[in-house]
Amino acid sequence: MIILGIETSCDETASALVKDGNKIISSVVASQEKIHSKYFGVVPELASRAHLEKINYVIEKTLVAGSEKFDIVAYTSGPGLLGSLLVGQIVASTIGYVRNVPVVPVNHLEGHILSVLFDNPALKPPFLSLIVSGGHTELVIVKKIGQYKVLGRTRDDACGESFDKVAKMLRIGYPGGPKIEKLAKSGGPGSIKFPRPYLWGNWDFSFSGIKTAVLYHLRGKYPDPGEKISRKDIVNVCASFQQAVIDTLVHKTIKCSQQHKLNNIAVAGGVSANGTLRKQFINAVNREKNMKVYFPEIKLSTDNAAMIASAGYYRAMQLKKENKLGKGFSFSNNKVNPDLELD
Ligand code: KG4
Ligand code: ZN
Repeated sequence: MIILGIETSCDETASALVKDGNKIISSVVASQEKIHSKYFGVVPELASRAHLEKINYVIEKTLVAGSEKFDIVAYTSGPGLLGSLLVGQIVASTIGYVRNVPVVPVNHLEGHILSVLFDNPALKPPFLSLIVSGGHTELVIVKKIGQYKVLGRTRDDACGESFDKVAKMLRIGYPGGPKIEKLAKSGGPGSIKFPRPYLWGNWDFSFSGIKTAVLYHLRGKYPDPGEKISRKDIVNVCASFQQAVIDTLVHKTIKCSQQHKLNNIAVAGGVSANGTLRKQFINAVNREKNMKVYFPEIKLSTDNAAMIASAGYYRAMQLKKENKLGKGFSFSNNKVNPDLELD
């Protein structure tokens, strides 16, 4: 079964063709980085306009590179920016109507969770998923595909968001994650003592404290907001901030997997593209007995539509089983997976 996936929840316009949930036929991502970088963050109105401009081209390119035929259209129905999500929904339901195929809504976070399975087909539920993206930071038990239990989430900034905000303070560009990762390689990870907000006693995260610590550190050294930050200070802040975030994520996730007796950990979302995070996660897990950590292919860490097509496939299978997989768009099916819904 071939699924056409459509992703427009934030600042990537993407579509992909995926066979049987795990074989990528073609995948196209158009980034809006250039549009948003001068604002150091995503501007929702500009994002939805750019989706409108690019979506037809992106889908055409996906079909030309893959196959004109598909059986189902899957699209991200949430969470995400409302205007951006609407573009994906309207395009998906139009295609469903014209092609007379079912239209299946997908939870974006479920997409990230399943993105790990493309490269790691041996990974089977139950496992612990850590989602670290620009909008979310969640620890989720994957009981089986389609059945999830959220154990904890961020109480303030998402992990990727804190990278983006620190990059904004350092005036090094957007998105912050890749810029900080690159500059951190020349800095000292222990040169500045930023806090590790473990919040022991629950599985929630909090990143605004580290971010504020960076702000106070910079204000202390550079009281004049217009003053140029030295390269030495930039690389040291990048390395020390990144290390504080990695320590928090790695220790908390490993503790959580031990307490829930889940030996397999899958890390997904934009921040999981970070090479230093990957290395340190692998090293830490190797020190534990029988524990393993899995990551998506780098290009599937950040937003893409292959993960949406994959989640759409499993959801379509479930709807089919329940005799609810009708042709076209159906409002009754237009719900994100309630297990992953935000409170
Ligand atoms: O998953 P994603 O593409 O979009 C959301 O669903 O939010 O994640 C984007 C986030 C951004 O905040 C970006 O700064 C971060 O992922 N990111 C990284 C890296 N690459 C992207 N963070 C740390 N290191 C990276 N290499
Ligand atoms: Zn995402």
